[in-house]
Amino acid sequence: MEALQIIVAIFILALASSLTFASDPSPLQDFCVAINDPKGSVFVNGKFCKDAKLAKADDFYFSGLHIRKNTSNTFGSTVTPVNVAQMPGLHTLGISMVRIDYAPNGGLNPPHTHPRASEILVVLEGTLHVGFVTSNPDNRLISKVLYPGDVFVFPVGLLHFQYNIGNTYAVAFAGLSSENPGVITIASAVFGSNPSINADILAKAFNLDRKMFLLFLEQDFKQKEVFICHAKFLNLLPSNSKQPAKSTYIIMKGIRSILIAFGLFAFACLSASAYDPSPLQDFCVAIKDIKNGVFVNGKFCKDPKLAVAEDFFFSGLNRPGNTSNPVGSNVTMINVDIIPGLNTLGISLVRIDYAPYGVNPPHTHPRGSEILLVVEGTLYVGFVTANPDNRLFTKILNPGDVFVFPFGMIHFQFNIGKTAAVAFAGLSSQNAGVITIANAVFGSNPPINPDVLVKAFQLNKNVVKYLQSRF
Ligand SMILES: *[C@@H]1O[C@H](CO)[C@@H](O)[C@H](O)[C@H]1NC(C)=O
Ligand SMILES: *[C@@H]1O[C@H](CO)[C@@H](O)[C@H](O)[C@H]1NC(C)=O
Ligand SMILES: *[C@@H]1O[C@H](CO)[C@@H](O)[C@H](O)[C@H]1NC(C)=O
Repeated sequence: MEALQIIVAIFILALASSLTFASDPSPLQDFCVAINDPKGSVFVNGKFCKDAKLAKADDFYFSGLHIRKNTSNTFGSTVTPVNVAQMPGLHTLGISMVRIDYAPNGGLNPPHTHPRASEILVVLEGTLHVGFVTSNPDNRLISKVLYPGDVFVFPVGLLHFQYNIGNTYAVAFAGLSSENPGVITIASAVFGSNPSINADILAKAFNLDRKMFLLFLEQDFKQKEVFICHAKFLNLLPSNSKQPAKSTYIIMKGIRSILIAFGLFAFACLSASAYDPSPLQDFCVAIKDIKNGVFVNGKFCKDPKLAVAEDFFFSGLNRPGNTSNPVGSNVTMINVDIIPGLNTLGISLVRIDYAPYGVNPPHTHPRGSEILLVVEGTLYVGFVTANPDNRLFTKILNPGDVFVFPFGMIHFQFNIGKTAAVAFAGLSSQNAGVITIANAVFGSNPPINPDVLVKAFQLNKNVVKYLQSRF
């Protein structure tokens, strides 16, 4: 029996070690600011890199994410991306961000996939019905109604959507585990491709005879009942909702797209895009009990059949952290320990609160790059490059401003305003880790030999001992 377990363990280990690190590759340098001009540059991972000496803080900066977007369009939603195209400093860092605005009463971010990223979304305003569909053969819909402060995860490559079921405007922000996650909106990819996909292929894919299918395309959702039936079957409509008649049409688009996915695609997650390895399955919900579990990348996986929407969900990020502490800041970390469904997905989220003049002290994340959005207040932020240059890049951020802290670099945020400040940040790991420099150096347990620190910091031994006594 034990021998069998060992063999199984070895087999699983072999499997685990064959996991591809299908990530945005490491730059093998502090960062790699993308430029279009190949002159005086280095080619890495699809973009040229700017000479590091010429990089400036603005390469890591984006402004304007506080602005409400016009949602007067077919779907009633607008996505504003901050990826490597908007912020060249994101190149090779494996992270990006979006703002999504939804019109009241049925604004829909229609079913789509990100071929290269998992997504972690936080709702700031409004009420969203969100969900994702697992790959073949189960095609389970895992869905949830979200309110402000709620967080939900969409695993890499899976079809997902968000739908505003409230009568007010809605806003969400999301971190994505790639500098350029890509978007495939199912409906437009299938019916709007250029040149178009042969109708016979589509007819077969959707199990419709060709004539019916052409009719279906022309008449544009005339067969509503069929789709409503499917919608009920899929439990896509929230059970308590009295759907406004007006939005039925919009829902239909979403459902049609999901059906398309059923018929056409095996959404094999061929490419993960984080530093964390790909799970090689739809997701890998972490459980503590090894019974019925498979060991992948540091956590056991729950049997996918037993996964529920709550595994991908967290509520309460609307509540500020208590900043009554010596540094005047509080980090609420939503990582794999809080949302088990993040296991192997290469992304997590934090909320950071700052008292007036509060500081998130210099620290590093050993396993993640960070993209930070200021929602309230004014922050002075910066990071320091590696030896020998140790250049400091700084910027003052106001609401709607975005800044990136490259993988592993020492960085900080300081509230220079007279009011409290709030920021949200995505990190390119399920468990990015934090090393607060002062605590690690002067507050380790047991303490680092003072002689080491005397030499390293060129300080008097009494000063070192004093510092050690402070932590
Ligand atoms: C939003 O866009 C629509 C259609 O493009 C336009 O008619 C409308 O004036 C815009 N609204 C605002 C507030 O800009
Ligand atoms: C952060 O805020 C939470 C919630 O108010 C509190 O429980 C926690 O102790 C705070 N952490 C620090 C370091 O002050
Ligand atoms: C915040 O933390 C301080 C110190 O621990 C405590 O005295 C205070 O009551 C807390 N405030 C809230 C709102 O919980």
